[in-house]
Amino acid sequence: MTRSTTTRPLVIVGASYAGLQLASSARELGFEEDILIVGDEPHPPYQRPPLSKGLLTGKATVDQLWLRAPEFYAQKRIGLCLGRRVAALDLAARRLTLDDGSVLEHGWLALTTGARARALPLPGAELDGVLPLRTLDDALRVAEAAASARSVCVIGGGFIGLEVAAALRARGAEVCVVETQPRLLARSLPERMAAFVEDAHRQRGVRVLTGRGVRGLLGANGRVAAVELADGQRIDCDLVVLGIGVWPNSELARDAGLTVDNGIVTDPLGRTSAEGVLAAGDVAAVAPSPGAPRVRHESIQAATDGARAAASLLVGQPRPNTAVPWFWSDQFDLKFQMAGVARADDEAVLRGEPASGRFSVFYLRDGAVAAAHSVNRPGEHLLSRQLIAAGARLSPQVLADPDSDLKAAMAAQSAAA
Ligand code: NAI
Repeated sequence: MTRSTTTRPLVIVGASYAGLQLASSARELGFEEDILIVGDEPHPPYQRPPLSKGLLTGKATVDQLWLRAPEFYAQKRIGLCLGRRVAALDLAARRLTLDDGSVLEHGWLALTTGARARALPLPGAELDGVLPLRTLDDALRVAEAAASARSVCVIGGGFIGLEVAAALRARGAEVCVVETQPRLLARSLPERMAAFVEDAHRQRGVRVLTGRGVRGLLGANGRVAAVELADGQRIDCDLVVLGIGVWPNSELARDAGLTVDNGIVTDPLGRTSAEGVLAAGDVAAVAPSPGAPRVRHESIQAATDGARAAASLLVGQPRPNTAVPWFWSDQFDLKFQMAGVARADDEAVLRGEPASGRFSVFYLRDGAVAAAHSVNRPGEHLLSRQLIAAGARLSPQVLADPDSDLKAAMAAQSAAA
């Protein structure tokens, strides 16, 4: 995909991590056309991790969240058009229409529209005190409600739900997590690690109910008063936080005729099915190679590396995203760090003692390290990313021995190869 030099700007739809990274990488690489980021939220791009952690405990404030200071945008000639939604794309004419009816022309177009919180389709979901957590404004509403809430029910035992549960429990609330699946984190972590997370929450006073459906929310005077479970049990609460997953914001792309299948389909350079149109971040469903199963990683790392790859294309120096996926989660005093994508049939090797609260689990696939999950072991996490990238073949015995020097073992293997 090459595009002749044009005086039309690069328009990036979505003031997200991916959107900002694409713009800044484009400038770093020498892209000279104008760049405009259009975002429907009123805020410039901001950090998301503190929304479900420090912003709720009071350790982070809003003014610490901005990814870049206002001067950055001016210096880099990156325009921001905020509080405006792109309503329609006309790819043939290379024009888009904003929700106020105005029309913008573009050269390259990048879609970094992210994902939105799933709504709870149940009676009572409209009551006051029932809040999702995805955006900065959502998090501010949760923080405000949490200041006076004594008893909180978190619906959904994924990372959002668990981080919110940890943060609100740490500030003294009674917290109950309700999860429909038989265990926590079923979508994202294997059983052993999820069981550790569940124990950690219980030990710190969080009530965890797994394998329990929600029938509806009960209110008094328009305000939520309880969550009613499918078996009729009632969990009294004065705040409900929803963390029941996200949907990719791909309707704009679909309506414009792009190939969409659980996200906007791209290759590892962020190329969509239309020439000159790129996508990156939570909205991008990436096929690592032609015909390979597509993955849509919902993480900052995937957004950042995907956007860097897309930017490389803008300047004719294509560098596909081949980075090892990783992400982290802070809950109470525990830092969870995940690298690679573990599968149920991987050989799991434990290094360290879970009861100590510091350990890693390495996952071997065909003899090579394919993934690793670490708890309060940041050094091992960093190393695991190198081991995975190198396809290191370390024996289960070496991995399991907490005294073995993994760096040296990897170096010895590279030297022998
Ligand atoms: P998720 O999809 O990971 O988890 C949602 C959970 O809610 C699932 O376990 C699901 O079974 C459960 N659920 C769905 N409907 C339910 C219902 N009616 N009643 C009870 N449980 C129900 O999504 P989550 O946690 O909302 O997070 C959204 C996105 O944000 C994900 O991509 C997540 O990975 C990401 N995120 C990442 C963080 C990190 O990297 N540290 C922190 C927070 C969120």
